[in-house]
Amino acid sequence: MGSKVTLKYSIISIPMQEKKMQKYAEQTQQEFEGWEEFFNKPVDEKLENFKRNDRIYDVIYAQQFDRNFLDYLCNLADMIRLLAKTKVGQSKLRHLLPHKRAMLYFVQPSTRTFLSFQNACHILGLTISEIRGTSTSSEVKGESPEDTIRTFASYVDLIISRHPEAGFAEKTAWVLNQTEHPVPVLNGGSGPDQHPTQALLDIYTLEREFRTIGGLDGKKIAMVGDLKRGRTVRSLSYLMKNYQDVELIYVAPEVFRMKDDITEFLRKHRIPFHETDDFESIMPEVDAIYMTRIQNEYAEGPVSEAESFPEFHLKKKHLSMIQTHCAILHPLPRRYEIEIIIDKDPRAAYWRQERCGMWIRAALIAYIFGVEKVIFEEFS
Ligand code: CP
Repeated sequence: MGSKVTLKYSIISIPMQEKKMQKYAEQTQQEFEGWEEFFNKPVDEKLENFKRNDRIYDVIYAQQFDRNFLDYLCNLADMIRLLAKTKVGQSKLRHLLPHKRAMLYFVQPSTRTFLSFQNACHILGLTISEIRGTSTSSEVKGESPEDTIRTFASYVDLIISRHPEAGFAEKTAWVLNQTEHPVPVLNGGSGPDQHPTQALLDIYTLEREFRTIGGLDGKKIAMVGDLKRGRTVRSLSYLMKNYQDVELIYVAPEVFRMKDDITEFLRKHRIPFHETDDFESIMPEVDAIYMTRIQNEYAEGPVSEAESFPEFHLKKKHLSMIQTHCAILHPLPRRYEIEIIIDKDPRAAYWRQERCGMWIRAALIAYIFGVEKVIFEEFS
């Protein structure tokens, strides 16, 4: 996590397609006393701020999750999906949180995170409101992002945000926690920085894929592609400290190597890893391959086709080179990183992975509102 990032909320952060929309004023810039000091603290020193009564309250960083929490949430997700198999079970789930309202504030494009959170809310009976671009909120009139978020907290019990700026969800949670009426904030992706709920669904998927071979402990995982700007691989790397004897292999072209903050974290926590640009050489030895696309949205200039890096693509010819149990993951959306024919291979887990996202996010929301015990009691 780049704790030295300077936050800059401006009209520049509005997605491309919205730039054509009329705006009446630049967004107001507000100074919050104490924020810069808080933001520049090491992450470990900040995590307590996002807890209440010894439970996670705001979900901002993957570093908030320990092994007990991850196992607990994966179990809870399993219970929810089991209950949802029957009409009676679905009705029980829908009656858990009909008195709660959630705001989905997604001002950076999203398909899976938005839809899986939206449907997770539906599963648990929450009512939702949504804003999917700053051009349809009063931000176009110059309202600051902080006042916008504070307004949501006047109406809803939970805010789920996706934003192009690193640190946005954290600032949102911090600002609300200074007010008389805070509500939990879930980070649905903050710039190239973190995507902690994606990391939850990735863990849930890996644990399920490895269910018959001892779970995630002891596994070797390759992460491939644009590791520098891929927030999913960053968040997932942080979670590896919770698992025994896991080894990581970062496979990337020189320009997209994993950043030093993550490799330093791995060294500090004695998580073995190595880096290579020779994808084929490591294929036979890994238990999972986590593919990612080039994150052009963070490019500083136009990106040419030569930058699609075909040597970091997974192709049909590779299926005979990987292990019979090797799980193939991708946070999606994909471009050309995985040949379509691979979708038919049982090791292709990415469609199951996106579905896992809905169940683990339902589990997370149930936990945030403290109703998970009711779900566990159904099975006791
Ligand atoms: N994996 C993921 O975050 O997908 P979306 O961008 O479609 O939400």
